[in-house]
Amino acid sequence: MKKVYDVPTQHILLPAIQQNEVVIDIGAGSEALVSRITDAKVCAVDISMNKIREAWIYQSRADWLLCDAQQLGLRNAQFSLACLWFSLGYMPQEKTKLGVFEEIHRVLREGGLVSILSARIKCQEPKLYFRVRYEFPKSGVSTMGYLVRGGQNQTLERVCLMLTTCGFEIVKTQDKYHYFWITASK
Ligand SMILES: C[S@@+](CC[C@H](N)C(=O)[O-])C[C@H]1O[C@@H](n2cnc3c(N)ncnc32)[C@H](O)[C@@H]1O
Repeated sequence: MKKVYDVPTQHILLPAIQQNEVVIDIGAGSEALVSRITDAKVCAVDISMNKIREAWIYQSRADWLLCDAQQLGLRNAQFSLACLWFSLGYMPQEKTKLGVFEEIHRVLREGGLVSILSARIKCQEPKLYFRVRYEFPKSGVSTMGYLVRGGQNQTLERVCLMLTTCGFEIVKTQDKYHYFWITASK
């Protein structure tokens, strides 16, 4: 069996994030996509100091928080939007994903939204390599790749089920086969 399931380069147009949002970006390290494309206030969370340092080269204006997103150590109900853009795949255990969703539910305001952009990880290979070319909402492009653990059964349906289990309501989904978008609300 092949060791890596290779996803052909996907072209993803990132949505604009309005300036009046108060955003928590989960697993923001390495590329800091969210805080690079918006002037909104962003709390950028990552469990790895190395990944946070990598992201600093972009000089985004985010407030950085080094912690496990399952225990944010932030007060309840203060964010209007939580983003998980290509970070769920770096939490291969379902228990971790659920722990993160529960914690996001706690720190989101009533009616707050979760935006999930994720690879579909259903392959049997031990690794999946996802290639992507992002187009930023105002201008600019960026090409990168994500290497994640295979066999996670991370599908649109499965993640929707986890979100509803944690008290979210699904607002919108977009299935792009190799990846998906989910918007859910508290
Ligand atoms: C590939 S990066 C995601 C890309 C990033 N969202 C961006 O804007 O490009 C995934 C990140 O999730 C982080 N991560 C994994 N588990 C985490 C957890 N439990 N809490 C917080 N961050 C986590 C990893 O350290 C890694 O930096």
